[in-house]
Amino acid sequence: MRLTLQSSPLAQVAADWLIVGLWEKETPRSSVAEFDAKLGGLLTKLREQGDVTGKAKELTPVYQCEGIVARRLLLVGLGSRDKADFTGLLSATAAAAKMLSAKPCQRVALSLPDALNAETALRACAHGFYQGCSTAGIRKNANERTPPEEVAFIVPAIDPSLQDSVRRAESEGRSANLARELVNTPPCDLYPESFAERAREIASKTGLELQILDEPQLLAERMNALLAVARGSDRPPRLVVLRHRRGGAGPTLALVGKGVTFDSGGLSLKTTEQMVDMKCDMAGAAAVLGAMQTIAELQLPVNVLGVMALVENMPSGKAMKLGDVLNARNGKTIEVLNTDAEGRLILADALSYAVDLKADHLVDLATLTGACLVALGLDVAGLMSNDDAWCQKVLTASQAVGERAWPLPMFPQYREMIKSDVADIRNTGGSRYAGAISAAKFLEEFVGTTPWAHLDIAGPAWAEHENATREAGGTGCFVRTLVELARTYGQ
Ligand code: BES
Ligand code: MN
Ligand code: ZN
Repeated sequence: MRLTLQSSPLAQVAADWLIVGLWEKETPRSSVAEFDAKLGGLLTKLREQGDVTGKAKELTPVYQCEGIVARRLLLVGLGSRDKADFTGLLSATAAAAKMLSAKPCQRVALSLPDALNAETALRACAHGFYQGCSTAGIRKNANERTPPEEVAFIVPAIDPSLQDSVRRAESEGRSANLARELVNTPPCDLYPESFAERAREIASKTGLELQILDEPQLLAERMNALLAVARGSDRPPRLVVLRHRRGGAGPTLALVGKGVTFDSGGLSLKTTEQMVDMKCDMAGAAAVLGAMQTIAELQLPVNVLGVMALVENMPSGKAMKLGDVLNARNGKTIEVLNTDAEGRLILADALSYAVDLKADHLVDLATLTGACLVALGLDVAGLMSNDDAWCQKVLTASQAVGERAWPLPMFPQYREMIKSDVADIRNTGGSRYAGAISAAKFLEEFVGTTPWAHLDIAGPAWAEHENATREAGGTGCFVRTLVELARTYGQ
């Protein structure tokens, strides 16, 4: 999928499909009004007949249209203009793209809606395209979805800032697709070593510095908590470190991702129902890899470290047991009371490693707790932090790119939940209550005084059901937020 810019009257745009957005309860203005005239007032007529209302995500294909160059027309509802935002434009475009990509076509043109500013609107629509065209059916013999070769954005005027916006959207879109694809890849094909090889390919293409730690190196680095999780599996663990150094003597941002390529629960085995989607448990690491790819491609003038902790969580004769006490990299002892609380164990070592690599600010992303789904639902990430200013910075970045996160409290009292009788801390909260927070309190033990924010993406990383704007499966969430955070880092 190639993104291009074109400035010409809508009636003269050549395309297999021309997508035109219509606002609810508003007669078309300017370029769309002109276009309606060329169509002999078709849009006005459809509105008057009540066939088209402009309601959000409403799709009206017109297969035969006189007076315009495009072969077909797709009208898409944008909802009401006073509620226009990034998510709304993204969803409307995604719905259109999902419909169009069900059949092959070469060139799609989209009239850029006049909302927000043109740069932001363009990125929102472009992301809608990537989302609507992506498929979870990566192992089907017959393709059921084909993205168009070219998506042309029809704009009033082409300027350098719009060209930058296209470049950014194109790179972010590919990176979100990479994250979706990694999440959707079956766990027989995606395991710590194969994930690390993917990171190697991306590093060599983009010029990112790469280090892959294998078992002996992880042992030498004292990552005993990570190794304890990995021990139950026949697949050896990896820790991938990617480095982007373009910020000179400036501070370093570290992105840390949970990469459990399959979470069976270990000896605290999950039920089939709980386990069935657990190939998604590496979505945090996938978001980090995607974001690093774009940060490198856009040559952002910052220092960023990407750390991916990759393991498989399996039961076996070698698996860690309930009651085991682990000696984490930073010296703290951890009593294991549930082997299914494995994400926090691998992140413990990955976070303290990032601190030792001299990160000035940390963000970790993890499909960490079912409790976060109970608290915030399927579409919103939990945001927990040890630093209010840094937390706000992460929240602002997510809002700027239409991704939803919401802060959960980190009161000192919650620390009680992870107290252990035999060790420094234990790996569960001990009750069903505040499970997302007790997990975050656990992670906090491994970041020292470094400003840190934790995104629990257990909900938004995986779409259980298909909807009008996307297929079920990996969502590629929070790649955009991380890129925005890196872009605004140090400002
Ligand atoms: N990977 C799961 C969390 C998860 C659940 C992600 C549902 C996506 C959807 C995590 O490793 C886990 O099993 N967490 C346990 C923690 C508990 C044992 C303290 C949970 O949430 O039940
Ligand atoms: Mn688990
Ligand atoms: Zn897990």
